[in-house]
Amino acid sequence: MNVIIVKNYDEMSKKAFEIMKAAVTEKKDAVLGLATGSTPIGLYKEMIADHKAGGASYADVKAFNLDEYMGLDYSSDQSYVYFMRENLFDHIDIKLENTNIENGKAADPEAECARYNALLAENTVDLQILGIGSNGHIAFNEPGTSFDSVTHVVDLTENTIKDNSRLFASIDEVPRKAFTMGLSNIMAAKKILVLANGANKAKAVYGMVRGEVTENVPASILQNHADCTLICDEAAASLL
Ligand code: GLP
Repeated sequence: MNVIIVKNYDEMSKKAFEIMKAAVTEKKDAVLGLATGSTPIGLYKEMIADHKAGGASYADVKAFNLDEYMGLDYSSDQSYVYFMRENLFDHIDIKLENTNIENGKAADPEAECARYNALLAENTVDLQILGIGSNGHIAFNEPGTSFDSVTHVVDLTENTIKDNSRLFASIDEVPRKAFTMGLSNIMAAKKILVLANGANKAKAVYGMVRGEVTENVPASILQNHADCTLICDEAAASLL
């Protein structure tokens, strides 16, 4: 894994944007794998500012999001589909029909996972953006998830429910289940860019970069990827 340590969140976002811009400039119809959470918001802001200043176009880009809470859709401002429109898609020229995410309100969850896996099988992600959970999860692949996993429904751990409750009115409102791309879907991307900032990510970052490759630390699988770059701030890198 290629590790780039920067001073702070702002530098992390700018550096990540350089990689994103190169990807969509080299290949106008790039397939992007996108993430939610607070970590990539700075990158998305850079993309929007550049686009508005006449920079990169996303008109031919396709996007696949990692995950979605079960039971939520665009009508909820806590859904990831809402997050993506609010923080990126509504401010660039990507076509909404080219954006993909699991349908949190799908009547048949198994069929929804199969639909998403089929789409991913047809579309190889050129650049996958990832954040990391404080317990080492990527997307919603919690510790113990099989490295062979594909899109599936997960029971979120108490740790993740607690971490993510800061974005909800109360912890009781955090959904207990979610749809997520599996680890093998994520590993199929040609290039992966992981972002991490803040001291609460230091342990997970250590496990991802230097720890044993184990299903107990889902992000450790990234050590096996041929083209994976981590950009993290000094606080997140403090145990490396
Ligand atoms: C959620 C998301 C992950 C994200 C993680 C970290 O659980 N499913 O994709 O990486 O949170 O979030 P944050 O960037 O807010 O720390």
